[in-house]
Amino acid sequence: MENKIERKGQVIFSGYKYGEGIKKALKLSPQDILFELRESKLRGRGGAGFPTSTKWMLTAATLDPEKYLICNADEGEPGTFKDRVLLTEYFNLVFDGMVIGGYTIKAKYGILYLRGEYKYMVPDIEAHLEKMRKDNLLGKSILGKEDFNFDIEIRLGTGAYICGEETALIESLEGSRGEARNRPPFPVNRGYMGKPSSVNNVETFANIPFIVMKGGKWYSKLGTEKSTGTKLFSVSGDCEKPDVYELPWGTKVSELLELVGAKNTKAVQVGGASGQCIPKSQFDRMLAYEDLSTGGSIKIFNESRNMLHILKNFMEFFVEESCGQCVPCRVGNVKLLEGTEMLLKGEFTFEYINKLKELGRTMKIASKCGLGQSSPNPFLSILENFKDEVFNQGMEE
Ligand SMILES: Cc1cc2nc3c(=O)[nH]c(=O)nc-3n(C[C@H](O)[C@H](O)[C@H](O)COP(=O)(O)O)c2cc1C
Repeated sequence: MENKIERKGQVIFSGYKYGEGIKKALKLSPQDILFELRESKLRGRGGAGFPTSTKWMLTAATLDPEKYLICNADEGEPGTFKDRVLLTEYFNLVFDGMVIGGYTIKAKYGILYLRGEYKYMVPDIEAHLEKMRKDNLLGKSILGKEDFNFDIEIRLGTGAYICGEETALIESLEGSRGEARNRPPFPVNRGYMGKPSSVNNVETFANIPFIVMKGGKWYSKLGTEKSTGTKLFSVSGDCEKPDVYELPWGTKVSELLELVGAKNTKAVQVGGASGQCIPKSQFDRMLAYEDLSTGGSIKIFNESRNMLHILKNFMEFFVEESCGQCVPCRVGNVKLLEGTEMLLKGEFTFEYINKLKELGRTMKIASKCGLGQSSPNPFLSILENFKDEVFNQGMEE
């Protein structure tokens, strides 16, 4: 599959020489790297935005000599395809980032959890890992560092959205059904095989070599104060140039729409199916953790689109993908879908729809994992931001 990258930014797509980051990292101590990471204020790119330095520090601090570093390449959020680009054309960055991570947290094993649909990538990735072994960038005594042994294994997922959630991913790696675990204990203390594990997104790893080479201070000057660096956005929907864009955090939605050639835009879904849907009046908001947080998926809808059709599509996805383990998510998504269908038919009472909104808010608090905690977002935001259209179209269907 051919990738097109519309906008190269100052970090990930700025150019990188294979192995450079590892060479620099091995001249530093793990503590030095943690310091640079903290200075960079890098936050995980998988969606939740947890500080990477904290996650690595907690894993590094555990005394267990057996630890794991896991790269989350499940990329299941609808509309997200930036990790696919990284894993087909920029895997030197991702795997160099993993080796640096292994050195920092003192792990001997790295696992790439690759979504089943990306199986076609395996031969190329395997060939790259083999080259790294030949070049002594993977395996025993990496670059002559006697006590540093680290290797990476690829494991395939089998196509469940929930398996992108880090604890369900670990269950899946262990051969169990993909279901989220109770936390605590957190994976940094008890993860894969009960051992300390750090799970990070593909794009998070791709940032690491640059932070090591150019320093945390340099990185922290890009983006905004709370959202440093650049972000890869997977842009799809009604626009002339749907593709992957590397932009600094803090870019306004309106700026992005102009860049991608979006015309007559009615709505933008920020953060995939589980994100928020915003109307034109909010297009001056910025893409950043402190405003519109996103793992990278941007879906654009123009004036010709029916917001209830969009919502129905999202809710059908969540009904299908709920793992069924907890009641708020298993039953709640079905109820929100039924409510959407009632709105489409014009057969609803405001009292019932208000109850559904309350249910959505309860799901966000009571669901066991991020799936049910975020799946009501499109229901709540579309009903709030597109009131006129949603409540008036009724009998049109
Ligand atoms: C339902 C669900 C699906 C998720 N899917 C992914 C995914 O495909 N890739 C990913 O990196 N994180 C995904 N996450 C977030 C992970 O649980 C976790 O926060 C992330 O891998 C941590 O990496 P980071 O700190 O580098 O962001 C998902 C979370 C939920 C609740």
